[in-house]
Amino acid sequence: MSSEKEQVIGSAGNVQFELLKNSLTKSFQEHFTSYPEGLVRGKPGGFVCSQEYARHADELLHFQPRGDDVWIVTFPKCGTTWTQELVWMVMNGCDKEAGKQPLNIRSPFLEFPYLASTKMQGNSPQMTKMISVEMVEKMASPRVIKSHLPLYLLHPNLLDTSKVVYVVRNPKDVIVSFFYHHKLIKIHQFNGTLDEFAQYFMDDEVFYSPFFPHALEAWALRSHPNMLFLFYEDMKRDLKGEIERVAHFLGKTLSEQQMTALVEHLGFENFAKNESVNFEVGKDLGFMNTEGRFIRKGETGDWKNHFSAELNERVDKWIEKNLEGTDLKFVTELK
Ligand code: A3P
Repeated sequence: MSSEKEQVIGSAGNVQFELLKNSLTKSFQEHFTSYPEGLVRGKPGGFVCSQEYARHADELLHFQPRGDDVWIVTFPKCGTTWTQELVWMVMNGCDKEAGKQPLNIRSPFLEFPYLASTKMQGNSPQMTKMISVEMVEKMASPRVIKSHLPLYLLHPNLLDTSKVVYVVRNPKDVIVSFFYHHKLIKIHQFNGTLDEFAQYFMDDEVFYSPFFPHALEAWALRSHPNMLFLFYEDMKRDLKGEIERVAHFLGKTLSEQQMTALVEHLGFENFAKNESVNFEVGKDLGFMNTEGRFIRKGETGDWKNHFSAELNERVDKWIEKNLEGTDLKFVTELK
């Protein structure tokens, strides 16, 4: 047992962030080539992020929500962007003209400016300048704000103040999608195989880990009147039905014409082509690699094209262990 006191890099309320020691090992550094400072882990809760986030975690915890805000809170790769566009459109009368502005301006990503330190590769100056927390603070109401932070690292009054749409996706497809994300985004720059990435994911050593507590915290709050809990798979199965749920939750009514147009607008083919949401601009700005796309495949069950039988067994056991005693269930395939 070591008597050495760990260095606290930052804190948010009672959560203290310390260096995730494994993230400085040679093998980790060879796999994740953009984290020269390593990653941090919060105690309690185990939340994993960058040192830069840790230094600003308290500021983010105290970021003041407004009564007319709508927050999209998700674990990455669960359909955040899709839901942001859906919510923004419903909130803004399906105004496609105004929707041509980049989504990250219309619906800012709260902690984005604090994800990467200047030491992290791929942290282009344009990227950090695009949005700041001060800009989100000053934004005109009603704001549609995105965050990947678990609820306990957002303002304690968030749910009693603002409407929150939480979206989750089955973890098998999240692993595959996050793997490609780590290859695409330069601040992650993952070099290993999908199998290796899946193990880091299950060991809760990737950005925004751990997955299950993130989802279960929101799941436990799903009956709160200000919470709408969505599944990516339901959006795939019945987009119109899920838009209706969102509109009802937000107190908005869509005409039949608006609904038809919105279903079309949010369909994968159109979405992938839509420059205001597909982040292809990240390639010009230099924080995304040219190979790969943010709006990648958009399917449920893509894990079957990537998992070996052995990996699938490992993932199944991990899911089973983490969902034991809960009533949260995931759909991993659509008929
Ligand atoms: P894949 O990598 O499996 O394709 P997030 O926005 O949370 O980062 O999630 C990204 C995932 O949502 C990607 O998954 C992306 O393709 C998918 N996605 C984005 N828009 C979508 C849409 N209109 N329909 C279906 N899936 C979509």
